[in-house]
Amino acid sequence: MSSSSHRKILVTCALPYANGSIHIGHMLEHIQADIWVRYLRMRGHEVWFISSDDAHGTAIMLKSEDLGISSNQLIKNVQKEHKIDFLNFRISHDNYHSTHSLENLFLLRKMFRSLDQKGLIKEKTIFQFYDNTKKIFLPDRFIKGICPICKSENQYGDNCEICSATYEPIDLINPTSVLSGSKPILKNTKHLYFNLPFFSKFLKKWIHSGILEDSVIKKTEEWFKKGLKSWGISRDAPYFGFKIPQYPEKYFYVWLDAPIGYISGFKNLCCKNKELNFDEFWNLQSNCELYHFIGKDIIYFHTLFWPAILEACSFRKPNGIFVHGHLTMNGLKLSKSRGALITASDWIKCFNSDSLRYYYASKLSSKIHDIEIDLKEFICKINSDIVNKLVNLASRNAGFIHKYFNGYLSDKLDDSKLYQYFINSSSDVEKFLEKREFSCAVKESMRLVNVANQYINEKKPWKIIITRKSLDTIQKICTMGINLFRIIMIFLKPILPDLAIKTESFLISRLTWESIKEPLLSHKINQFIPLYERLRFESIDKLINLVK
Ligand code: MSP
Ligand code: ZN
Repeated sequence: MSSSSHRKILVTCALPYANGSIHIGHMLEHIQADIWVRYLRMRGHEVWFISSDDAHGTAIMLKSEDLGISSNQLIKNVQKEHKIDFLNFRISHDNYHSTHSLENLFLLRKMFRSLDQKGLIKEKTIFQFYDNTKKIFLPDRFIKGICPICKSENQYGDNCEICSATYEPIDLINPTSVLSGSKPILKNTKHLYFNLPFFSKFLKKWIHSGILEDSVIKKTEEWFKKGLKSWGISRDAPYFGFKIPQYPEKYFYVWLDAPIGYISGFKNLCCKNKELNFDEFWNLQSNCELYHFIGKDIIYFHTLFWPAILEACSFRKPNGIFVHGHLTMNGLKLSKSRGALITASDWIKCFNSDSLRYYYASKLSSKIHDIEIDLKEFICKINSDIVNKLVNLASRNAGFIHKYFNGYLSDKLDDSKLYQYFINSSSDVEKFLEKREFSCAVKESMRLVNVANQYINEKKPWKIIITRKSLDTIQKICTMGINLFRIIMIFLKPILPDLAIKTESFLISRLTWESIKEPLLSHKINQFIPLYERLRFESIDKLINLVK
């Protein structure tokens, strides 16, 4: 798709569960999507960026019981917290809703009715694991055991985090209840199933229609090879969720109403913004684009169930599902149960948000690989790239401009060829940002900072000043330096929004993509203000103490 034509785009992040805090693993996804969204907005496209809390399920019910509050109160408190976390990291959501909302209930019921009328829902009686001490049917995530495929211990009932196999809890070797530690018993219960196999042909074609990255296609095909099975969409009471009409004591499974949250979150946005047209984005003939950012653990739901449900209910399908790997620390997936949890709110007490955004960007690509966070490397990278190279380029030139030229840039560039070279490099950066190859965009920006600093090193304005012979030349050299800094800051603006704002007030000029071609000349800039504070190694100890 060409980036010159005006596009209407809806971007979503997976809906975080409302049973806990946002951690820096979740933040990886929102930062990745936010960089993309900010870039597309800079290019003049109409982009709507939404997410929501995923407010249903057994985990949330149990958590609220633990806390001695109602589930309703819990999800309200958590949503408030989550919103603050995203704000702190400058995630530019246009809406952050909840799946426990009227819009979602309404859409869920409507879509369920439509599935039912089309004969796509069947009843089945099955045996399921039941915790006889806690009197509750156990969801997959509340059963642990040995993976039937690779034999890794301590794996959940639905899939293995080691070999990524998916299976039924019944297949687990040595299952135990996470709630009580007891051995669960098998008990029969009636459930509703969605006829997924009916959509095999459609899905096969759809996953090969250019919307998925190769490794995601491969993963999805493995499930095909095993044969698609009907998908259970109901759960027994006690449960926190939406009740199924005509089925007392049965609730809709959270994974049915969660993705519907993508639609209902947008619906809610339409209520707040009357210019938005809901149907234009969601009907079958929509010309708007739809993209979902998700982690690799929820591919299954997004490449099989979700498009099938959309197809069944005559909604448009996504144009892309962008899958990222997991954030790991010392090789472990970051999660509460894996004991490596750094929450977003702890992080922000120790480091600014631009730093994490930059660090992630420097490691992110369109591929699905895991991303390892190493705190020492993090500090070194930020101080070296942002402080020593980028901000230094601005400060070393701004000094002269203020001391000798009253804050005025010259009316000519010292080296217009070099400036043109920077303009030309923008087409590469555009490609990288558009294709979510953020690590390449960062690398290219740093290469250019080095070129700019090298230029100043060779021109040595500090030497010329001693003789005071050609002040004019110094002004041109430093004007050059400031303008090269400006171009690089335009490239990095989607990644470093806070630094970009400070830069704009320092340069008294907006960082826009169109203005790359127009250097600031005969223009007054502000006194140099410290744009970015060096990170300190002591902050690592502070963070580790908070996490403990
Ligand atoms: N509620 C579901 C998503 C429903 S979408 C219709 C869910 N919630 S989650 O809170 O567990 O995860 C939300 C997103 O964060 C998922 O895309 C998940 O992959 C991502 N991450 C959770 N832990 C992560 C890491 N450690 N690293 C990177 N992403 C992580 O799944
Ligand atoms: Zn396994």
